Amino acid sequence: MTTTTTGTRVTKAVGTAHARVEGRDKVTGAARYAGEVPFAGLAYGWMVLSTITRGRVRSVETGAVLEMPGVLTVLHHGNAPRVDIDYVGMLGVPDPTVAVFQHDRVPHAGWPVALVVAETSEQAREAAEALVVHYEEEPHDVTFAGEHPDAYTMPGPGGPAVTGKGDLEAELAASAVVVDAEYSTPEEHHNSMEPHAATALWDGGRLEVVDSNQGTVWVANELANLFSLDPASVRVRSEHVGGGFGSKGVRAHQVAAVMAATVLSRPVRVVMTRRQLFSLAGHRSPTTQRVRLGADAEGRLRALEHSCLSRTSTVYEFIESGAGVARVMYDAPAHHTANRVVRLDVPSPTYMRAPGEAPGSFALESALDELAEKCGIDPIELRVRNEPERGPVSGLPFSTRSLPACFREGARRFGWADRDPRPGLRREGRWLLGTGTAAASFGAGAMPSTAAATAEADGTFTVRISAADIGTGARTALTLVAADALQVPTDRVRVRIGDSDFGPAMIAGGSMGTRSWAWAVTAAAEELRERLALSDGIPPEGITVRSDTTEALGALAQTERHSFGAQFAEVAVDVATGEVRVRRMLGIFAAGRIVNPLTARGQFTGGMIWGISMALHEEAVRDRNTGALYGADLAGYHVATNADVPLVEADWVDDPDPDDPVGIKGIGEIGIVGAAAAIANAVWHATGVRHRSLPIRPDRVLTAGPHA
Ligand code: MOS
Repeated sequence: MTTTTTGTRVTKAVGTAHARVEGRDKVTGAARYAGEVPFAGLAYGWMVLSTITRGRVRSVETGAVLEMPGVLTVLHHGNAPRVDIDYVGMLGVPDPTVAVFQHDRVPHAGWPVALVVAETSEQAREAAEALVVHYEEEPHDVTFAGEHPDAYTMPGPGGPAVTGKGDLEAELAASAVVVDAEYSTPEEHHNSMEPHAATALWDGGRLEVVDSNQGTVWVANELANLFSLDPASVRVRSEHVGGGFGSKGVRAHQVAAVMAATVLSRPVRVVMTRRQLFSLAGHRSPTTQRVRLGADAEGRLRALEHSCLSRTSTVYEFIESGAGVARVMYDAPAHHTANRVVRLDVPSPTYMRAPGEAPGSFALESALDELAEKCGIDPIELRVRNEPERGPVSGLPFSTRSLPACFREGARRFGWADRDPRPGLRREGRWLLGTGTAAASFGAGAMPSTAAATAEADGTFTVRISAADIGTGARTALTLVAADALQVPTDRVRVRIGDSDFGPAMIAGGSMGTRSWAWAVTAAAEELRERLALSDGIPPEGITVRSDTTEALGALAQTERHSFGAQFAEVAVDVATGEVRVRRMLGIFAAGRIVNPLTARGQFTGGMIWGISMALHEEAVRDRNTGALYGADLAGYHVATNADVPLVEADWVDDPDPDDPVGIKGIGEIGIVGAAAAIANAVWHATGVRHRSLPIRPDRVLTAGPHA
């Protein structure tokens, strides 16, 4: 990257609280989401999903439906345009889940079998509900419970499938204390506030898509590949996004909308219903995990084994890499991790906030708490004693690792020092009270991005980058970053995002969005400032400078880069009713420079609240007979709501990334990591009973055995 000629960086905006720059638009309704942007001549597509779980579509009775009012066409495997899924995209080979209407096979319940397009949304829906589809049904298997004979190891987002060093059995045998426990987490869904929605149209030979996604360039490139188009002839825009959490990449709705717009030569909009999200938007696989820990009498680990089994579809291999977190957190002379997966007749799972780390940290951080109990060592002290010098698997030094500082600050603020470690001793009326803690980590990376910074003739600045603000406050964070790099007040900077025409940039994902974009914005803005210093006046079209961080990122030193955190929870448990209430939570994070404390706090607490939800509420239950979910809606799928969320506080310790121009590490996902374990550990402390299966439902509390 370029550096300023003065060598001094005047920082004013980064690190100060700033309300969202688009906040007024959002609360007044002026901000338009993908399903609301007006188009002349718009037609509406409605997806028809399979009612069987496995088999073939024998026929689609389009005749009667085509006679219904307003109906324009019915697309299905017999007549839809063909797509090409034989390419390598940003995330590797494409997900055949999105290649809809290409074959008669039904791989899971809720598979798209047709798209009905009509003049109005209501006409499309009525016709879609009237469409008769005949199937040949085949037996299915959706049962995920413990082991499965067809399970196999597979690499994934968390790295290789298997890692191993040392003699596990020998070290376990030589350990003074051993924990050997199995944990499970259920199928979970990231059902965003704004459902997936896309409008596609052809405009002068160019495909235009207005969509809700986590990366416009990503979606544009995937659509170009799928429809064999020149990438330059595809433009995707995504101005405001009401949540993504990993679910908003390329999905069936965009592909269906492009097909219909192509067939009808007019703009077509496809919006998923809330119910459809449960089979089309991806989800987090259930996991069963086994953790074996062996330690000496002082709690120093001699053996660590973490294996995770998750579930994918028959269409696409996606693995929930739960064992990945152990590769970063703790070292041991014998250290083994394995991620395995089994293919069943279910919808394809996908990335969901802290993929791998969220369920993995529940198992590992629960097991650490069990080890602390068995060793008679405070759970924080146990973790501090097991702080590794280097990455346990990579062998690389950590860029920074401030986990002990997080625990120190968290313990001080939470009041941990007064804690009696013995379980089941504190009672308040019908409630048993307990406190628990857990560690958190998430990778801190950056990916190449491009940006453009323009000095306008009126003295303002425009920054363009195809970033996505999925509710995180990224647009605002980039405004602060740009203002500092330009050394001007924030009100002179306009940041434009969500348009693939702005050039390649990282997606909002992997906790890498803001950091990757801020790097590119800083590089462009700093070079622009140099150019301005040498120019005499700004022409009417302004002066524009472009940046590309590919080279700078390639030169980064090889270190283990992670954010860390310490989670604390206090719970109250009524063992007569099984009710668990979280009373307060505190999270202290070491997660790089915090750009905007206001929105950052929301990111952290949002993740922690999701941890409450994961610990106590969320569970999608699949009916083994129908293969579909019970209650695929937000009435049947419970999430934490206001009454479940007490005082939740998040704060941070100083932990700037040493190699990042702004010091950013990324905070998108770490808030949920360890949060469920802290709550489960607090439930143990309250009751003396370990809960190794999430969620900790009232019936599980009631049937968990004698309480202390
Ligand atoms: Mo995130 S699960 O990388 O959107």
